[in-house]
Amino acid sequence: MKRVDDFRLRFSGVKQEFVPIMIGGMGVDISTAELALEAARLGGIGHISDAMVPTVSDRRFKTRHVKDKLQLYKANVTSSDKTGVQFDLGILAEATRMHIGKTMEAKRGEGLIFVNCMEKLTMNGARETLRVRLNSALDAGIDGITLSAGLHLGSFALMQDHPRFRDAKLGIIVSSHRALQLFLRKNARLDRLPDYIVIEGPLAGGHLGFGLEDWMKYDLATIVGEVLAYLRAEHLDIPVIAAGGIFTGSDAVRFMELGAAGVQVATRFTVTHECGLPDKVKQEYFKAREEDIEVNGISPTGYPMRMLKDSPGIGDGIRPNCEAYGYLLDDKGRCAYIDAYNREVALHPDAKKISVKDKTCLCTQMRNFDIWTCGQTTWRLKDTTILQPDGSYQLLSAEHVFRDYQYSIDNKILLPA
Ligand SMILES: Cc1cc2nc3c(=O)[nH]c(=O)nc-3n(C[C@H](O)[C@H](O)[C@H](O)COP(=O)(O)O)c2cc1C
Repeated sequence: MKRVDDFRLRFSGVKQEFVPIMIGGMGVDISTAELALEAARLGGIGHISDAMVPTVSDRRFKTRHVKDKLQLYKANVTSSDKTGVQFDLGILAEATRMHIGKTMEAKRGEGLIFVNCMEKLTMNGARETLRVRLNSALDAGIDGITLSAGLHLGSFALMQDHPRFRDAKLGIIVSSHRALQLFLRKNARLDRLPDYIVIEGPLAGGHLGFGLEDWMKYDLATIVGEVLAYLRAEHLDIPVIAAGGIFTGSDAVRFMELGAAGVQVATRFTVTHECGLPDKVKQEYFKAREEDIEVNGISPTGYPMRMLKDSPGIGDGIRPNCEAYGYLLDDKGRCAYIDAYNREVALHPDAKKISVKDKTCLCTQMRNFDIWTCGQTTWRLKDTTILQPDGSYQLLSAEHVFRDYQYSIDNKILLPA
């Protein structure tokens, strides 16, 4: 019977081999530097995320980016026209370089650290802000960039003049072979293939690359099979990483026996000490039952998102906070939450507090850990630990969970000592 440790992940043109476990990016700073550093120390691949990176820099390094931005645009707070609320590209570059640079400085061991970069964070200037995010990550010495939450048809071109464009590992997350095909076609002229492809199925946490009504009709193994067949037909040798719902080492082995080069996992690490969620929220993840998890349409990105139904951010009606954040503003300064909020204010002009049910102010709620996004397997987390006499679940170390994936056989889960 095989275990994950019988396999190794290789990238084309690199001699070194890796434990084929990637811890997926979890914004906003849920996949912390500490978590990513553990994955790298243990010989695998960890992700940090560049979602809301000025905000993360404020928390991590005591900078004042959010306060300064809010101060600059204070007069605009009550206006629903957010077109003038722009990101300072110099500050964005500085925050990205600091978050990534400090993480890379702390790296130990044989593994790698990648950054998860979501295209949907359009930041009232999609192209320019993405260009700065990607190039600053390369400047700061990141080992690799995982492009996510979008088709990223122009993202490689935004980096093509960077001296590290051909040496850093660059990968893309897709949920279908059609999305991959499109990406490869659009980038053919750059003569630069992705170094890895993450295939994220419908059971993942965060945003889903499927429709709100039909995500349940898809399954990861089928999509992995389709992508592998497509790559074979095109004579392309690119490592494929399977993601979404892989809960045990044996689940991972099944994907690698299908032909995947590795797995990307996240949910099991949400209840580790190193994960950025507050400990109280980690207990909510442990306690969750299957019926407490839903896929809904409240994210202003337009992508379905999986979360715990009890997330305090669901139905909250706070005033849009774009002057401080504004990461989801499109190029016209619009966000679906602003429209939903204005509609409710118009419907309830005298209310002190309103509730917005169909959309959420995702920047604020994710910043405050009030949208509890999670994978479909979250309800099984309680089986990965011990219930303590005080009624709380014992948090795990990232090393414990990583090694459990690496060495377990027979679908077994090792409980903590
Ligand atoms: C709490 C949480 C937050 C996530 N945030 C992101 C994100 O910001 N960007 C992204 O591309 N994927 C995100 N994901 C998806 C993971 O990176 C990963 O691909 C997926 O959840 C793997 O499936 P699993 O959680 O069932 O192991 C998130 C997942 C979780 C559980």
